[in-house]
Amino acid sequence: MVIKRTKKDPASMVRAPAAPEQVVFEQSLRPKSLAEYIGQSKIKGHLLMHIQAAKSRKEPLGHTLLHGPPGLGKTTLAHILAREMGAQIRITSGPALEKPGDLASILSNLQDGDTLFIDEIHRLRPVIEEMLYAAMEDYALDLVIGKGPTARSMRINLKPFTLVGATTKAGSMSAPLRDRFINHFKLAFYELPEMQLIVERSAELLQMSLDAKAAHRIAQSSRATPRIGNRLLRAIRDYAHVQGQATVDCACVETTLRALEVDDRGLDAVDRAILDTIVTMFNGGPVGISTIAAVLAEEEETVEDVYEPYLLQQGLLQRTPKGRMATKKTYEVLGLQVPEGAQGALF
Ligand SMILES: Nc1ncnc2c1ncn2[C@@H]1O[C@H](COP(=O)(O)OP(=O)(O)O)[C@@H](O)[C@H]1O
Ligand SMILES: [Mg+2]
Repeated sequence: MVIKRTKKDPASMVRAPAAPEQVVFEQSLRPKSLAEYIGQSKIKGHLLMHIQAAKSRKEPLGHTLLHGPPGLGKTTLAHILAREMGAQIRITSGPALEKPGDLASILSNLQDGDTLFIDEIHRLRPVIEEMLYAAMEDYALDLVIGKGPTARSMRINLKPFTLVGATTKAGSMSAPLRDRFINHFKLAFYELPEMQLIVERSAELLQMSLDAKAAHRIAQSSRATPRIGNRLLRAIRDYAHVQGQATVDCACVETTLRALEVDDRGLDAVDRAILDTIVTMFNGGPVGISTIAAVLAEEEETVEDVYEPYLLQQGLLQRTPKGRMATKKTYEVLGLQVPEGAQGALF
């Protein structure tokens, strides 16, 4: 069976569009301090130490790069860092900075100790990226004024600041940019108990009455990703509301998950279509990511950055030099017989 999908198919919780009310919803659930931020304990430990040291030296925190799949808490952490430092945060993103002047104006308006957050920093244009080098290293802005033979360069001093960059694709950042970050943190998928705490915390903020079993069940289906846990919770809340149920129980969760086509591992229709393509159309692989994306009518980058990390982490996919391959677990999840003589490290 090959699941054909089109771009119009709305079944994905993983890549739901960021509608304005979705953004407001997410912001309302954002933890505001490191203490409130659940999980990622190693990163939190390092950050606490760096924050204390920077504060005692009365210096800004070192430039910090946050790397990891969407929805794991990079933007949230950037806000928390600024807050813990008692600093203001300015927010922009790689694609939003079109001209060098855009960045120059942001940088020259920064106040002492401010945090500048650049989301999707791997998508900066090279001219803008180069401008960041002197800003990060020397708190300076090198501007070229005029054109042709009369052009001259001018250096403007900036106030000391912290750059926090977020990326889903650290691999596609240039080495000179990556190396200018003092701190590098790779966010990990959340453990089940952490996910359950996140779901329970969000339910409380949403004034939802949720029993522990239901919270556990939602956590299981959250793809180890807080954003997805929160989205599921919201859908379940709406369902319970329509049904006139005051307390969300497991039955309510199950019904909503079924309607959303999310299974008990948190895989949604796109995840299953990716696995099904490899197994059914390409006999378990190897098959290139661009081929998988073409079959599913998805962007290659979306398959690679949004869907694949979780499938890899779950051992449902393996990356080989020749392409993506199914694993023993892939066949099991799809309810198929593992073929005889199947190849690959995970058989
Ligand atoms: N560690 C965490 N604890 C509690 N909630 C979290 C945590 N990390 C993320 N969230 C929630 O998940 C949502 C998505 O987080 P966000 O920071 O926007 O992810 P990213 O920027 O990595 O895509 C936020 O609304 C936030 O409430
Ligand atoms: Mg973000």
